[in-house]
Amino acid sequence: MSRLALFSFLVGCTPEVIDDSLDQPALPIVDGVAAAEDQDADPNVVEVHLTASRTEVSWMEEGATPVWAYNGQVPGPLIQARVGDTLRVVFTNDLPDPTTIHWHGLRIENAMDGVPAVQDPIQPGETFTYEFVLPDAGSYWYHPHIRGHEQVDRGLYGPLVVHEAEASTPVVDRDRYFALDDVALRENGRHYSFSTGGMDGMHGRHGNVLLANGQTELITDTVQPGTVERWRLVNTANARLMYADVRGADWRVVGVDGGLLEEPYTTDRLRLPVGRRFDVEVIPRADAEKLKLRVLIPSQTGFDRYPMFEAAIAGTPAATSVPTWPAAEMPEPIAETQEVDVELDFGSGGMMGMAWLINGQRYEAGDSIPIQGNVPTRIHLRDVSGAGHPFHLHGQFFEVLSRNGSDGDIPGPLDTIHVGGDDELELFTMFDNPGLWMGHCHILEHAELGMMTAFDVTP
Ligand code: C2O
Ligand code: CU
Repeated sequence: MSRLALFSFLVGCTPEVIDDSLDQPALPIVDGVAAAEDQDADPNVVEVHLTASRTEVSWMEEGATPVWAYNGQVPGPLIQARVGDTLRVVFTNDLPDPTTIHWHGLRIENAMDGVPAVQDPIQPGETFTYEFVLPDAGSYWYHPHIRGHEQVDRGLYGPLVVHEAEASTPVVDRDRYFALDDVALRENGRHYSFSTGGMDGMHGRHGNVLLANGQTELITDTVQPGTVERWRLVNTANARLMYADVRGADWRVVGVDGGLLEEPYTTDRLRLPVGRRFDVEVIPRADAEKLKLRVLIPSQTGFDRYPMFEAAIAGTPAATSVPTWPAAEMPEPIAETQEVDVELDFGSGGMMGMAWLINGQRYEAGDSIPIQGNVPTRIHLRDVSGAGHPFHLHGQFFEVLSRNGSDGDIPGPLDTIHVGGDDELELFTMFDNPGLWMGHCHILEHAELGMMTAFDVTP
């Protein structure tokens, strides 16, 4: 008999609620966004319940902002598990429109990818259960894959962290997730109407309000010098190419989209196209007063700088112990097979107003590029539109081989890469995950206007 049942015999006492999730090995704490609760007692299964519905947030003094939210919060709850775990997400759509959830960056089974090409959109009032095994540790996010330009910007996106295997989890003093976003709000707090016409269709929707973890205000804290923090940064905006830097710390990049790097590197600033992630090791300096995360927005004179997080550096310096960052494995080329080339040209055009094209075509379901899986493949990306496009590939990771003819020097594994105006990039992938996988521009208006294709990968 459980303790809970015993206590209930004591009339007049409130029985203590036993949380049986305590039996599970605890996951590292990730700060930033309130986490979803694991509803399954099995230590290797994480089950979370998500409901998308309409609610309001207060971002502007002049009035509330109606949003679409997962479990009433923007961003949606942090979903976290360990590599190798099964993730089950029981999702209910309480929105007025059909929707899906796509797990950005996860190399999961095709049927669970959350795109209309592999699943019927989940209608208002319906429930759908996503279930898959988590193959790679890393920092990810989730969002709808229908009318993304509207649904994501209304507030439907959330963080997803897959922790490294228990024995190799890097030990840090603090683990923080920062979802960086912008929204386009009127003075009364309401969103500007959603459109794929005009400037929105041209450049993608750019916001006038910056958000970190769904907050307009600076996030603050106090940190001790010499401690080691792991920051996970993601750009969840519809279109804005962001830059970011860290002040008051020794910092370096330890991970990217698809996991931790073999060789961490230092840089002055990060370039963060929409969809991209960086994992950063941050060690607050004893000779600095404040630790800051800043978003940098290109301006006429260089950059405008927006602090999103600021911590007072206080206390006696800790003895720094830099963790070991276990590198993610890249798909290995299979030596005996010949390499295959795939060309993707990003262009614009269209008879009736704006269209964004891949290889001269708008995306149409059913029209896909056949790919033989497990064959070393070079993808040649060329922007012939001059506009610049963040390319995202579903279900696979890739490496950058070159940018404009020279060594790309952008370490992978990646699932999102910025193809600058008139740039040419060469990617390498094995296409080792069979199924129908989207490749598209992550400027959500461009994707909506046709800049998407599908790779039909046979095993
Ligand atoms: Cu983040 Cu196809 O999406
Ligand atoms: Cu684009």
